[in-house]
Amino acid sequence: MTEWWRRAVIYQVYPRSFQDSNTDGVGDLPGLLQRLEYLAWLGVDALWLSPVYPSPMADFGYDVSDYTGIDALFGDLADFDRVVAKAHALGLKVILDFVPNHTSDRHPWFAESRSSRANPKRDWYIWRDGKTGGPPTNWLSEFGGSAWTFDAATGQYYYHAYLAAQPDLNWRNPEVRAAMHAAMRFWLDRGVDGFRLDTIEHLIEDSALRDNPPNENWTPADPPTQKLRRRFTTDQPEISEALQGLRSVTDDYDNRVLIGETYLPLERVVTYYGHGIHLPFNFHLIGAAWQAKTIAALIQRYEDLLPPGAWPNWVLGNHDRSRIAARVGPAQARIAAMLLLTLRGTPTMYYGDELGLSDVPIHPERVQDPWEKNVPGHGLGRDPVRTPMPWDGSLHGGFSSAEPWLPLNTDSTKLNVEVLRDDPASILTLYRKLLALRSRTPALSIGDYGHIGHDRNVLMFERRHDQSLYMIALNMSATEITVSLPNSGRVALSTHLDRETESFVRLVALRADEGVVLALNT
Ligand code: NOJ
Repeated sequence: MTEWWRRAVIYQVYPRSFQDSNTDGVGDLPGLLQRLEYLAWLGVDALWLSPVYPSPMADFGYDVSDYTGIDALFGDLADFDRVVAKAHALGLKVILDFVPNHTSDRHPWFAESRSSRANPKRDWYIWRDGKTGGPPTNWLSEFGGSAWTFDAATGQYYYHAYLAAQPDLNWRNPEVRAAMHAAMRFWLDRGVDGFRLDTIEHLIEDSALRDNPPNENWTPADPPTQKLRRRFTTDQPEISEALQGLRSVTDDYDNRVLIGETYLPLERVVTYYGHGIHLPFNFHLIGAAWQAKTIAALIQRYEDLLPPGAWPNWVLGNHDRSRIAARVGPAQARIAAMLLLTLRGTPTMYYGDELGLSDVPIHPERVQDPWEKNVPGHGLGRDPVRTPMPWDGSLHGGFSSAEPWLPLNTDSTKLNVEVLRDDPASILTLYRKLLALRSRTPALSIGDYGHIGHDRNVLMFERRHDQSLYMIALNMSATEITVSLPNSGRVALSTHLDRETESFVRLVALRADEGVVLALNT
């Protein structure tokens, strides 16, 4: 049997911004429950929920204070169960975000751990003595400043890869592993179909506490958090065993998936298959130059690096990175949609990208993101990509009847689900047609690649399965380009949505910014 996640398209929901149901301006689970039909209508197969656990929200849920509950902001466990039940009834899988690397500093485990050096939970976190009047190492927090915070009460430093409010757990401690396994089982028993594991490359640090070396490529234009290479703080060999422990938990259940967040070079990303992760996120479309030549080389390199049996995956955007429409512009955002949904491997979509939503400018007074607050001015703020989903043209876009926690896109009266749903030429219609085409066309989901290449600035690749053969041709330029094909056939879909079923004889003229899926005669 082919595992469901090989054919699936995953849709990331950022719960704070999807649908508010109780007029507090923040999205919640009962709100999401109302919108599940939309996801089924759109045609995705699985939703991944960013964290909904109890949290002081220093990092909007990525600071967990209880791994087996739901924050009151989002609802309660009964609401969660309703979401899972309805999603399943609609044929949608549910993937939970799981944050194994760190807890909140308000987690009772950390409260115990910091209470005294002799506390049995002291070793659940990374406590070390300082060195010559300063922190134990030069390690930097991803969110700015030293990764060590001094705790005067017990006279030691604790390590945090992110905020001081997010102390790192000690994954060398078997009790920590057992506690996290139990938390995973809690959700697996409730029926979740898998986990997206947060920042797994950070799970374990060098036990000898060696200083990180300088990053030779750093310039003052780069964020100070990039000054050092993460040689001794990420991607350490012991991570493998820890992750395989998580895999052995999910393997006790049928049909569950483990997805890992891996911001690493591709040759390192692919090693995480060997650590038990089904889908180590491939984020390499996010930083890539938007050119046919570069993307063709990326696809080929990734395919060459994949170990035997490993299933690829692709991501265009998420709650941490600038939106695709902001990066490549509205015309090429349609090309990006066609690319994501025709590549070999499981695609992950980010809510709102199906509307062509762009980054929303945030007034300095409304900034929420701790990253932006700590390391301002480097374009790192994540609020612009976390704005409320615009459902209709009403005040607050149908997201909430109160002022939302972040502003909506200023064009929400035009750019919203209700308007785009009824527009036969909209990007939303394109996404829906692409999802339907992919779902009924095995060549596009599980098929192999044929030729992968580029002609001028047109990216071209073949997908084949049994007797069916498709060519995807994506014009990544703003000029018309005619491409020649190995055979004749018909147009299955154009990003311009106006030439379906058109037949062609060996040549196809692509308009500016046009992509096509072509069914070739075999
Ligand atoms: C990665 C998450 O995607 C991001 O939002 C978060 O701030 C960090 N990990 C820390 O958990």
